[in-house]
Amino acid sequence: MAYISDELFNEINMANDIVDYASSFMTLKKRGRNYMACCPFHNEKTPSFNIDRDKQLFHCFGCGASGNFVQLVMRLEGLDFQDAIKQMADRAGIAIPENGTRAGGAAAQQKERIYEMNKLAARYFYDCLNDPEKGRAGREYFAARRLSKKTMTKFGLGYATGDSAGLINSLKAKGYSEADIVSAGLAVSRNEKAVDKFRDRVMFPIINARGKIIGFGGRIMGSEKLPNGVRLAKYLNSPETPVFDKGSNLFALNLAKNSNEKDIILCEGYMDVITVHQAGISNCVATLGTAITENQAKLMLRYANEILICYDMDEAGTKAALRAIDIIASVGGKARVIRITGAKDPDEFITKYGVQGFRKAIDKAMPSTEFRLSLIKREYDINDTDGKIRFVEAAARILASLGDPVEVEAYIKKIAAETGISEQSIVGKYKEIKSKMPRRSPAQTKEAYKKRELMRVNSGRSPAERVSSATLEAEKRVLSLMSASKRLTLEAAEIISPEEFSDKVYKDMAEYMYSAAKKGEEVDPAAVINRFSGDAESENKAGEVFFNREEYTDNEKTLYDLIYKIKQDRLEAQISAEQDAKKIGELLRKKAELTEQQRTKTTNK
Ligand code: UTP
Ligand code: MN
Repeated sequence: MAYISDELFNEINMANDIVDYASSFMTLKKRGRNYMACCPFHNEKTPSFNIDRDKQLFHCFGCGASGNFVQLVMRLEGLDFQDAIKQMADRAGIAIPENGTRAGGAAAQQKERIYEMNKLAARYFYDCLNDPEKGRAGREYFAARRLSKKTMTKFGLGYATGDSAGLINSLKAKGYSEADIVSAGLAVSRNEKAVDKFRDRVMFPIINARGKIIGFGGRIMGSEKLPNGVRLAKYLNSPETPVFDKGSNLFALNLAKNSNEKDIILCEGYMDVITVHQAGISNCVATLGTAITENQAKLMLRYANEILICYDMDEAGTKAALRAIDIIASVGGKARVIRITGAKDPDEFITKYGVQGFRKAIDKAMPSTEFRLSLIKREYDINDTDGKIRFVEAAARILASLGDPVEVEAYIKKIAAETGISEQSIVGKYKEIKSKMPRRSPAQTKEAYKKRELMRVNSGRSPAERVSSATLEAEKRVLSLMSASKRLTLEAAEIISPEEFSDKVYKDMAEYMYSAAKKGEEVDPAAVINRFSGDAESENKAGEVFFNREEYTDNEKTLYDLIYKIKQDRLEAQISAEQDAKKIGELLRKKAELTEQQRTKTTNK
């Protein structure tokens, strides 16, 4: 389907009524300027889901879900952007031209450029692998892992030679600059020179559900340990880029989504997935080198009834499986666990026991609750009275976390039969624990959401770079004020650069709003939110900024106060993380300058 230009998007967006649409999914009540309902994206009894009809935006004050009209359609109906827009266009009787105008924004164009480079890179790696001379080591590696030619082609596997600029030169010849190539994560800058990021590795392209290559994983072929003691990463993955978000994509989803199976098998590793597919089972995916996220769980549940977790059988794999069960449950999904007894991972299991063995393991996949119970059972000796009591207590705790009363009852029967303790006593224990479990109020959910948001922003940052929840709030309010006024946006552009915002969504929004204001354009919230389409976390953040703008009495002073707060907070974090007295002195001087600047700014007005 065609790209949707901003103009066309706007037309389709405005031709529909978000309240009208949403009311077929929930009971909406008008409250002031907004409409409210119980949130369709998390469990709640008192409404915290808001719709702003004028701006066509939604926001949940409980779980933070937020976005524009098309994202509401996407999330409620599990559609991708193109299909959601198509549906809205149909409803309004607007035709989408097959060769519609290209998406206009600079960000959209940059994304498109990265997709093109990734595609060329995949082609380059593929050609290297199949080059009689250059690709020998790669072919030998894959042969040793028993991959057929057909499998290699299906996954577009490739090979990066030891050449430090092989890919760079190939892309340069096609008109891309070194800066382009670095921005795609295909090269890294070293001493002001770009070098190929992937060298001496076999290459696994990572393809999203729409069939676009978004990044790569590269596996080392030899030992991870060099003779000089240095350890190399077994897998090197593309860094996060505008098109590569590790927490929102899955390896092989492009293939798995077309399989006719009703469930999806989730493995840990790329090689596991490839071996499973090669065995003729095509509903298998893997995360991208990080632990599973809510976004990934939701993404799988778009295509699957249940998720069959098939992680390594070691301690780490078991822990990760428990975590995955929690994440999947938290977005309302069901999981089972495939146990591959006798092998360390699915890859080895299939090699040892064949497809038949693996299919048997799939058929015997354990319901997640049974899996959790089986793990605690290992910890207690049920033949011992004390062990039995403690087991029942722990089991009741697991049951208390479940939502389905039928499931609870079934397991209570089972535990009673196993332990000889009466169902009645177990029910008593269950009720006792359940009654003590805090029922989360909307306010608590909101707090939990904010905490998670802060953790996400701060993960991987050094103490000097960490931000507080108050700073984050200030950044949000600055953007919110900017969205209300071109004049304030231009004022802000003078004193705070996009880089000074801590979150990448906020940076991007600031950059966009600055450049729009400089061109004299109004900011269209729905269009800004669209820039983050497909990444729910970022959509939520952007949506929240625009939703329910506060009214401030002295907007300009508020803006300055907030901006200087952000700057001061940053300096303070640096000061408290600094050990060197001289550097602390410099930072303190900077802080004094900043205070002075703020004073002149606000008194001159
Ligand atoms: P594994 O170590 O289990 O690797 O990591 P694997 O996929 O089974 O690969 P083989 O069989 O050793 O070749 C599981 C996944 O964790 C990520 C990769 O996504 C890998 O597929 N990972 C692992 C990394 O991103 N970096 C690493 O250094 C190691
Ligand atoms: Mn493995």
